[in-house]
Amino acid sequence: MSDTALFPLSDEHKMILDAARDFSQAEIAPIAAEFDESGEFPSKTIRKMGEMGFMGIEVPEEYGGAGMDTLAYVLALEEISKADASHGTIMSVNNSLFCHGILKFGTEAQKKIYVSGVASGKKIGAYSLTEPMSGSDAATMRSRAVRDGDHYILNGRKSWVTGGPVADYVVVYVVTDPDKGAKGITAFIVDADQPGYVRGKKEPKLGIRASATSEIVFEDYRCPIENRLGEEGEGFKIAMTVLDVGRIGIASQALGIAEASYDAAIDYARERDAFGKKIGQFQGVSFKLADMKTRIEAARLLVYNAAMAKERSKTTNERFTLAASSAKLFASETAMFCAHASVQIHGGMGYSKEYPVERYFRDAKITEIYEGTSEIQRLVISRLELGLR
Ligand code: CAA
Repeated sequence: MSDTALFPLSDEHKMILDAARDFSQAEIAPIAAEFDESGEFPSKTIRKMGEMGFMGIEVPEEYGGAGMDTLAYVLALEEISKADASHGTIMSVNNSLFCHGILKFGTEAQKKIYVSGVASGKKIGAYSLTEPMSGSDAATMRSRAVRDGDHYILNGRKSWVTGGPVADYVVVYVVTDPDKGAKGITAFIVDADQPGYVRGKKEPKLGIRASATSEIVFEDYRCPIENRLGEEGEGFKIAMTVLDVGRIGIASQALGIAEASYDAAIDYARERDAFGKKIGQFQGVSFKLADMKTRIEAARLLVYNAAMAKERSKTTNERFTLAASSAKLFASETAMFCAHASVQIHGGMGYSKEYPVERYFRDAKITEIYEGTSEIQRLVISRLELGLR
């Protein structure tokens, strides 16, 4: 079974791991299939996760968070995702893409107004970079913000926004100067209750179906100047800095999915008989299990290493892009490898909704796509290694 034996944890970290495991196995695992089927947003469990401190783990207590470190964050996220990757996505976006960005780049007023509610799970935060014609090549976005006195007028269509249909606040990246490319992009905190914010088409997704994802459309949305995050033209760098953190979250989510797939495969290999033996006694099955376990433990080390690199950056302010992208790349491919192998070990039962592995298989795929595809992670890693960035 999966464990953290290769990585010694402090008593405090063991405590958060146990709390997240107990909570997610008792409250999330039993409802995961139902919410996957309906695609409904799991508001009740998300609120409870907020009460447990999981929606703002690293957010200082003065802003409504749990005030813990990055390792605590990834340990909890891994356990939540092991029970259900949809809950993992919602938790990751709230913590990394929303709260972290405002804590790092926001004003005191922005932290007080927008982080507190989201970190305590009472409000949902989102992050919106992608557009229908701008995904991996994020700097080619077209949505605009035009200054009008002490406001900006936002227009455009953003897509693939996790939490889009339910979010209270969104950090959105739009063009303020179309002649400047990446340096003409600016970040804003928008309030979904204000006129001009239109919740668009909900995406009919393969996996993580309970983490509502939609387009959002801005129709002359008036954003007060005090809601600009950072300076004009700093938006792309903010988006990339925040994604470095987001990618550590997705790596932990992927690790959780890989472990769930592996645990299910071990149980099935012990129980299922074929040709007069337990199927785990055939090398065709047992070697798959060995490969899964080895990749999971390697992914774990990369994820925890990235978490510690981010933790160190709180004092050194050094970038941890390489650690984050490597962890995301390897952990997401491990999730896909393990989910694929687990379905194969389960045979026909792996293809049935009566067992959870078909859900793990569908959920694993997104980790190789969102917050930067595996190809983008390879681009980021190789550019850094070649000294091109
Ligand atoms: N940290 C800080 N700054 C960074 C950075 C980082 N990690 N990465 C780039 N930058 C800076 C660069 O230094 C550069 O600044 P200077 O010109 O001052 O040096 C500037 O940003 C532009 O960088 P690049 O020239 O490298 O930009 P690029 O256009 O070549 O793009 C890219 C780089 C890595 C491909 C980037 O576009 C990228 O990451 N694409 C993928 C986007 C992505 O992950 N989207 C997912 C969105 S979120 C989501 O999935 C939905 C959800 O709700 C979860």
